[in-house]
Amino acid sequence: MIPENKRLIGKPISKLIRDYIKDTIKDRPIKPRMILIQVAGDAASSYYVQSIIRTAGKLGIDLDLKELPAQTSQEELLALIGAANIDDSIHGIMVQEPLPGHIDENVIGCAINPLKDMDSLNPANLGRLMLDINGLTPCTPTAVYTMLKYYGIETKGRHIVIIGRSAVVGKPLANMLLWKKPFADATVSVVHSRSLQLKELTRQADIVVAALGRAGFVTADMIKENAILIDVGINEVIDAEGKQGYVGDIDYNSCIDKSLAISPVPGGVGIVTSSVLFLNLLRAYMGIDQDNKSIDGFLSLIFDET
Ligand SMILES: NC(=O)c1ccc[n+]([C@@H]2O[C@H](COP(=O)([O-])OP(=O)(O)OC[C@H]3O[C@@H](n4cnc5c(N)ncnc54)[C@H](OP(=O)(O)O)[C@@H]3O)[C@@H](O)[C@H]2O)c1
Repeated sequence: MIPENKRLIGKPISKLIRDYIKDTIKDRPIKPRMILIQVAGDAASSYYVQSIIRTAGKLGIDLDLKELPAQTSQEELLALIGAANIDDSIHGIMVQEPLPGHIDENVIGCAINPLKDMDSLNPANLGRLMLDINGLTPCTPTAVYTMLKYYGIETKGRHIVIIGRSAVVGKPLANMLLWKKPFADATVSVVHSRSLQLKELTRQADIVVAALGRAGFVTADMIKENAILIDVGINEVIDAEGKQGYVGDIDYNSCIDKSLAISPVPGGVGIVTSSVLFLNLLRAYMGIDQDNKSIDGFLSLIFDET
C-alpha cells in the first residue's frame, strides 16, 4: 500500500531482503563471497561502492574490493574476471560502471560468467530477462520492480515512462515491466536525450521512472496529477556551506504535492538496489541454475514470510 506521507522509502524492503539473506546463510559454514571491481570510480559510483561494503559487513558476506587505477588495460581487467570466473570460492562478480573510455563495457559484460554476473551485464542474462527465463537480473531495475511489488502499485495496462535507456537501468527495466505478470504488464515508453516529445510523454505517464543522472530534471510541470514517481538518479550536490550531498533526478519539492507517491533520494531505490545485489549473490551462491525460482518467486517468498 502507498503510505499516507506518499514516500516510497526503501528501508523496510531492504530489511526484509537482508533478514532473509542473513537467515538463509547463518548456519552455513561457507559464506557467499563476491569480488567487486572498481576502475577509477566517479563520486556516484564510489558512493554506491561504499554502501555495498557496509552492507556486506552487516550481512557477514565476504567481499573483495579490487580498486584499479584509471590506466588499467582492458586485458588486465579481463584477466581478473577470467580468474574469478573459474574460482569456485567466488560466487559473484560485480564490475562497477562507468569504466574508463578505453575499456569496452560490452566486452567486459560478455566476459563475466553468467552464473556469477551480479548486475546482469552478460547478454545471456539480458536475453533471459527479455524472455522472462529464470536468471540473474540487474540490480537497479530489479529494485524498481521490487518497490512496485512491495507497495502494491498497480502497473497492469498503465503507462510507465522511463527516462534513460542505459543497458544497466532503462533498457532492462523496460523489458521487465513488459513481463506478463503482476507488477509488470505495463505499457512502456522509454525516452532519452534524443527524444523530441519527452515532456509530452511524461505528462501522460501514470508512473515516471527517472534514470538519467540530471539533478532535479523532472519538475511538476512534466507530470500529471497523481502520477507515481520513482527516482533512480543519484547526483552529487554541494550546498551553500560546501557540504556534500546527493539528490535524485526528480525535483522532490516541486513534485511531491502533485504526485500520488514519490521515492526519495537518498532512502529510496538506492538502498533496495544494494540489497538486491546481495539477493543476487545469494542466488548465485545457492546455484542459480538449480534454484528453479525466478527473482519474482524469491521476492514473493520474502514478502510472504512477513
Ligand atoms: N539508485 C541506484 O541504485 C542507481 C543505480 C545505478 C545508477 N543510478 C543513477 O541513475 C542515473 C542513471 O544511471 P545510468 O547508469 O543509467 O546512466 P547513463 O548510463 O549515463 O544513462 C543515462 C541515460 O539518460 C539519458 N539522458 C541523459 N540526459 C538526458 C536528458 N537531458 N534528457 C533525457 N534523457 C537524458 C541518456 O540518454 P542517451 O542514451 O541519449 O545518452 C541515457 O540514456 C544516474 O544518476 C546514476 O547515478 C542509481
